[in-house]
Amino acid sequence: MLLHFNSILLIFSQLPTTLCLMKMIKFHGKVDVASFPIQINPDENCFEDCFQDNYCLMAYLDESVECYHYRYTSRPKTIVVKDLKDESVVAIKAIIPPDLLSTCPSTHDSLDFTMTIPSGDTYSWTKTPDGYSLNPCRDTWKSFSRTDGNIVCLQIFQVNNIDQPAAKKFCMDREANLTGVASVEETVWMHETLEEIPPVIEFDSFWIDGERQCAEGYQCDTIIWSDGYTTSSTALDPGNFWASYVTSTNVPEQCLTIAHLPRNPGIKINDIECSKTRTTLGVVCGYALL
Ligand SMILES: *[C@@H]1O[C@H](CO)[C@@H](O)[C@H](O)[C@H]1NC(C)=O
Repeated sequence: MLLHFNSILLIFSQLPTTLCLMKMIKFHGKVDVASFPIQINPDENCFEDCFQDNYCLMAYLDESVECYHYRYTSRPKTIVVKDLKDESVVAIKAIIPPDLLSTCPSTHDSLDFTMTIPSGDTYSWTKTPDGYSLNPCRDTWKSFSRTDGNIVCLQIFQVNNIDQPAAKKFCMDREANLTGVASVEETVWMHETLEEIPPVIEFDSFWIDGERQCAEGYQCDTIIWSDGYTTSSTALDPGNFWASYVTSTNVPEQCLTIAHLPRNPGIKINDIECSKTRTTLGVVCGYALL
């Protein structure tokens, strides 16, 4: 049996290039708090299969030798792992710095457990007094619990002068979608971030999801979310959304932004032309935890 806190570095031979320094750190421990693990067929290789799966961040072989995989796309809760002198084994995917690889550390205590996913985002485990814990959202993404039961992870990216289709593509390239908003609270967070960009001027904005869609005419109040998870229109309250429908020269304004509107105190959402690029400073991307 291994001693408490001892670890083994598993080195697999066929490393996908995207995971060139990704390894699995295996130690005796127990998954204490987590939900929706995926149970793996006992004929499969518990640890190697997780390693080869871009979405898997941890494999767990419990005391009855049942194997579970934890995928970052299906985690509504924080995962807590206890480091124990126990029959069960936990293997956490982590990037190992090259200098550590050559020396092969004798204990995982000195390692930071961070893994990169194909979008380039990271997941970093936090050390707790008796183990590790992992937040449900990617590092630096902000989570919101919605009244429809969804938990979403949102992130603001500063990108200047792109139109709405480009904003959608920007988010999709990061395995997320241009996000809809489900509450005033979510728009407050986005608006505060916008206000911190110096020197923010009137109509500067961040793209969010949401587009007018009516059979006839453009002056309609039917706004469609296409992110796949936003269901509420609470944030589109007239006290939060300035619906002007058209520009001063009568061009339809069919798309939504979070905007700096000093002449409309309290208003955080503005409709603009979907092709507008001049005043756009960023995009808000998101995804829902399944
Ligand atoms: C993006 O939205 C589409 C629906 O428009 C959905 O099928 C897809 O799963 C969403 N992707 C993410 C990462 O949420």
